[in-house]
Formats: sequence, C-alpha cells, structure tokens
Amino acid sequence: MSFYVDLNPKCSLKSHPVVMSKKDSATSKIAAKSSEKDPVSELVYPSKRVVQKANVKEYEAMYQRSITDREGFWADEAKKLHWYRKWDKVLDESQKPFYKWFTGGKINIIDNAIDRHLKTWRRNKIAMIWEGEPGDVKVLSYHALNREVSKFANILKSMGVKKGEIVTIYMPQIPELPIAMLACAKIGAGHSVVYGGFSVEALASRIDDAKSRVLITADGGFRRGKPTDLKGIANDAMDRSPTIEVCITVKRTGEECMMQTDRDYWYHDLMSLPIASPDCETEKTDAEDLLFILYTSGTTGRPKGLVHTHGGYSLYTSTTHRYVFDIKDEDRWWCAADPGWITGHSYLVYGPLINGATIMLYEGAPNHPYPNRWWSMIEKYGITILYTSPTAIRGLMRFGDQWPKRHDLSSLRLLGSVGEPINPEAWRWYHEVIGGGHCPIMDTWWQTETGGFMITPLPITPLKPGSATRPFFGNEMAVVDDNGKEVKPGEEGKLVIKSPWPGMARTIYGDPDRFVETYWKEYEKQGWYKAGDSARMDEDGYFWIIGRIDDVIKVSGYRLGTAEIESALVSHPSVAEAAAIALPHELKGNAIHTYVILRAGVVASKELEEELRSHVASELGPIAKPEAVDFTDALPKTRSGKIMRRVLKARALGQDVGDISTLEE
Ligand code: PRX
Repeated sequence: MSFYVDLNPKCSLKSHPVVMSKKDSATSKIAAKSSEKDPVSELVYPSKRVVQKANVKEYEAMYQRSITDREGFWADEAKKLHWYRKWDKVLDESQKPFYKWFTGGKINIIDNAIDRHLKTWRRNKIAMIWEGEPGDVKVLSYHALNREVSKFANILKSMGVKKGEIVTIYMPQIPELPIAMLACAKIGAGHSVVYGGFSVEALASRIDDAKSRVLITADGGFRRGKPTDLKGIANDAMDRSPTIEVCITVKRTGEECMMQTDRDYWYHDLMSLPIASPDCETEKTDAEDLLFILYTSGTTGRPKGLVHTHGGYSLYTSTTHRYVFDIKDEDRWWCAADPGWITGHSYLVYGPLINGATIMLYEGAPNHPYPNRWWSMIEKYGITILYTSPTAIRGLMRFGDQWPKRHDLSSLRLLGSVGEPINPEAWRWYHEVIGGGHCPIMDTWWQTETGGFMITPLPITPLKPGSATRPFFGNEMAVVDDNGKEVKPGEEGKLVIKSPWPGMARTIYGDPDRFVETYWKEYEKQGWYKAGDSARMDEDGYFWIIGRIDDVIKVSGYRLGTAEIESALVSHPSVAEAAAIALPHELKGNAIHTYVILRAGVVASKELEEELRSHVASELGPIAKPEAVDFTDALPKTRSGKIMRRVLKARALGQDVGDISTLEE
C-alpha cells in the first residue's frame, strides 16, 4: 500500500500558529464517546441523500441472484463493457484452480478505459487532474490522455516491445506513470510496476523475474520538498539486471543523472519524434491475455508476480468501483494510493477510467508543506470521493481537527478505506471530521491477488466501524478452522473464498506450482482460496478482519515479507542470522522488529544497529526500515530449522509463548 505518512519532525505542529491544544480536538471527544460503544452491535445508517442516489438500492436480493446464478450475473455485467468479440464461455473451470473467464472473448482494457469514451461527450471530460508536490498542475481530458498514451505506445513499438513481453515501470506519482501503464496495455504488452519507494534490490529482483528488456523510469520525483534519486537507483538495479536493453527516463526534477549511451533515452526527446504519432491502434487482445504482473510479498524471500488479465480484471474493477462507490459522471474521484500498488492499479487507473470518471493524482507527501495539503486539494478540486488507508487517516488525525476544519470539505459524499483494519477511533474521526458525519465509509477488504474489492459495504449498507461488512456480489466467503469447518459467530478463524470471481489472479508469473501451493493447497479438498488473513464473522454476517496469519507484515498498509527483511539483513557482512516480526504500532498499525545473530568476532553496538537499519532501508526501501535491531545469541527454531516468529513476538509482548514443544533451541 502506498499511503505512507512519513511524518517529518521538521514540520512540527508547534511551529505553526493555528495549532490548537489536544483538548480542543473533536478527536478526543469522539474517542471518548467511542469507548462507551460496542463496535459489534453499533450500526451507522446512511443518510437519505446517499440512499436516494445509490446505484444499488437493495443488497440481499441482488447478492442472492449473484450466488445462485453467478455466471448469469457476471455475463450481465460484462455486457456493460465493449468486446471486440463476445465470449464463448463465461467461466471455464476445467483446469482448477487456474480458472478462466470469458474465454473466446476479445477485449482490451484500453478500448474500455479510453477508446470508447472518445466516441461520446466524455471525449472532452477531464480524465485526470494531477498536482505535483511543488504545486504544479496538469489536467488531461480523455482526448488528451488518448494522445499521450497513443504517442508513447508508438514509441514502445518502435523500441521493439511486443505483445506478451513485460515492461518494468519504476516511477514517482506523475502522469507519465499511468500513461506508461496504459500504453503497454494498449499494444498488448504486460507491465510490471515497481513501487517508486522500493530500492535497488527490490527493483533488480523484479526486473530479473519478469526478464524485462525495457525499463521506464524518471530522474526522480518530489517528496517533502526534496527530489528523490530514482534514476540513480534504477542505474544500480540495471547494473545487476542483465536483461535491460532500453531505459526511458522522464525528466521530472531536472537533477543531474547518469545516462548511458545506447541504452538511455529521455522520454521528452522520444515523444517529440515523428514516430510518436497520436494514432495507434489498440491491440485486440484475448480476454485471458496477460494485462500486468504485480509483485507482492509472501512467505519466502522471492516476491511473487501475480498475473492479471484483460477481460476478468476490466470487468471486476469497473463493476466493484461502480457499485461500491456509486460512481456518477459528475464525480471527482481521488484514490490516494500510489499507482505502484494494486490499489493504484485497480482504483486509481483502470476501474475509474473504465467508468469514465475524473481521477485525481497527487505526487507528494500528505502533510507537505503543512498537514492540510490533502484537505486543501479536496476543497480546490471539489473532490467527491476520497479512498485512502487507515494509516494515512491516523497520521493526519494526530495533527488535530483544525487542519481539515480550515477547509470546505462539503463536496465529499463518500469515503473509502483499504489496506488494514481501521480502528474505530480513526473510523469515527474520518466519518465526523472529514465526512461531516454524512459520508459513509466503504471499508474494502481485498488483496493484490483478488484484483478488486471482495468484502465491502455498498453506500446503502448499515456500517459497523471497523468491519468491512459483507461480501461483494458473486463472492462466497467464510471463516473456517484448519479442517475447513465454519467457526461459530464471533470466533476467530481463517478467511477463505469459496467460489471463483473474474478479478482473481490467474497464476504467479513463471511459477504455477507456487500459486497452487500458496493459495489452494490448504483447502484443496474443498477447492477454496486461502486468503492468509484471520477474521471473525459476527451474528449479522459482518466480517471483521484481524490481520495476516502468514509471514507477511503490514506496515502502514504496505505488505512486506519477513523473509525479504531477513535476507536484506543477512546480506550485510556482519550478520549471520536474522528474524523479523511485527509488533503493534499506534500510527503504522505494525512496526518491524528484528533479531540478529552477528558473525563471530563482530561486536554489537548502537552504531551497528543504526547501520543495519539503514542497510535494510537501502536494500529494500525506507518502508522496510526496522524499528529496532536486537542482538541475540540464538533464535527460537523448530527442529526443521524454521524460525518460530510467534515465540519471538509473544516474548516481546510479554505474553505466554504457548506450545514450544517443537522448539529446537
Ligand atoms: O491483510 C489484509 C489487508 O491487506 C492484505 C492485502 O494486502 P495487499 O495485497 O498489499 O493489498 C492491499 C490493498 C488491497 C489483506 O490480506 N487488508 C486489505 N484491506 C483491508 C485489509 N485488512 C483489513 N481491512 C481491510 N479493509
């Protein structure tokens, strides 16, 4: 996730004249109120205004129909898209769990996200409003977006990019990032966007796995008033990755950077060549053709490239976006995620553009130069829906109510949350202070693997703060024990998805066995997908997500594998062995704590701790920087050598370590 609020100590609240004391804050009042409530039974009903406008007026009947006639439901929704050729079969289950959707159909996501709008009045509608951190603004209509995408698609073609090959994109949040994604999709090439906050090792390993020949990057971007050095990191990664032949660089910051002859080209130079014509035919891809891969963390050090396809993904992202956020033509939609994560792919770029919406994209930090940056942009652009993460909300909430209260936020009609469970205090602040008490919060549970929302309210759903509520249409979800038996209401268990859905990842790129092993093996007999989360379902059928049960840590909503952090640590010459765990953190949700066994002869010191923390940050990126590095002589391991992180965690929290009969040391 990409809502990291890297709060700058220099931007201290005390230094700003309008800061009020904590006592003045409505937050504390809301928090006091909330502690008296039982979150499971408390229901927050939508206002009449929301219900009247709602795209779906009744959930239950529509849900039942979507389950009893799943294929019919999705076929009806699919008719709302443009197909070059209609499908032969809605769902092909012949090679479970490698499900296929709309086989025989020909469709390209760009035909739906751009081309078809050009034939309507939306041609001149604003597709994208972008604001850079320094305050520069760009606005693109659908017509203008099409020109940029087509021109760049022609450049890619001229570089020999072919259907099916994977182009890696490593960029800041500038318009050229979605343009590059859309250009790849237009010509049938796959994209692999690597989050711009990742560092050398993370980028290099993703380039290698995708065997990318072409890398698209920028000299940098602006973050908290300073230029970042993206091209420097890209250069180091390319030194490690032999497959890259061409690197295209957008000039954003103007900082000096190393360009290698015969490999490096400036984006603006290429875009001014005659070959960059604004006419480019969209490739007529098959429904099941690869659209993109997106890497995410799992239980081993190797990141997994989840594969999404043109047909099912177009359908799933646009349908979920339209129903859950009640999208109307007059909306200004702001998904404040980085396009480098699945939230950005599905709900910043693809879903909203398919629905012909106006999207907002912002380059920088939410609290730069002051903590009212987001609120001022909502007022300035008349944003009607804001979709963000609990981490961002908590981060901005701690600056107090006076920052949003300086702005007219009355344009907002709906709010959204994603990435981690939202604590009721943050929920209420978001609801009251940002939404003025009348904007329902769509708390959407989903994953990189699911492509789109799986458990989510609709605007008409009575809400319970902290619950993602009920499954989206077509989805059967359950909370089960290790044997697959549903646990009783209120009891904790494993979250599973019992039926296929069009937006599901089709496989792990280049590793189908791992796809089966990771998601489908545990409940093979039942044919269910294991989400890797623990959850509860209450008496009303509302789902409450607790958190990850595998070796994945959610830090500020970002997904990191303990194994990735551990291998970054052991790549340091002083480290023999390492273990990483998540401990609760007030702002970030979770923070990374690590334990390290040093090599013989190396002496532990405060300086070495700092060096190791920085080493992880420079290998993986600042989001992976551990909160602490503890030096130890031994790590709790099973006899087969697996580190028992559960034991480390229980000990760090002062809890009972539980059953340690399998412990070796
Ligand atoms: O643990 C769940 C958490 O984020 C995980 C998926 O992470 P990622 O693939 O990075 O995708 C994040 C954006 C879709 C889930 O397994 N998660 C996501 N949304 C929620 C959530 N936890 C609780 N509530 C949510 N709304």
